[in-house]
Amino acid sequence: MRILVINGPNLNILGRRDKEVYTEKTLAEIESLLKSQGEALDVEVITFQSNSEGELIDFIQEQSNSADGIIINPGALTHYSFSLHDALVDVRLPIIEVHLSNIYSREGWRANSVIAPIVKGQISGLGWRGYVAALQTLIDELSGGNWK
Ligand code: DQA
Repeated sequence: MRILVINGPNLNILGRRDKEVYTEKTLAEIESLLKSQGEALDVEVITFQSNSEGELIDFIQEQSNSADGIIINPGALTHYSFSLHDALVDVRLPIIEVHLSNIYSREGWRANSVIAPIVKGQISGLGWRGYVAALQTLIDELSGGNWK
């Protein structure tokens, strides 16, 4: 099984970006945690981060044919990127949307996700543990054949 873990703009500076709102862990630490979690279950976890919308879309188009599921934190693109939305629709894979912070308890504009309508589920506000929960859920559901 192959799972893509994709992070969007500004998530490369986790660890020094508003630690109260996000997390003290760096993205590299979170990614390495997810890779070990995957390895233990014989699942390949492929990580990717970009600050550029086009690069994220290229990665999704190039990698989704050989993947079984996607975990994505699109950063601020969550709130307005219809092109990211369209790229994700086209992959026809189970997708879990993750946000470190609770996007519903912050500025009003963050409460709208253009991605949410096309994902299996969303985890918001659980910090780095949200990624761990998302990976465990994808693996469980895909192993059971429930989301194929
Ligand atoms: C975020 C929430 C977004 O509103 C914000 O723009 C981010 C991070 C989160 O993980 O909480 O960059 O997706």
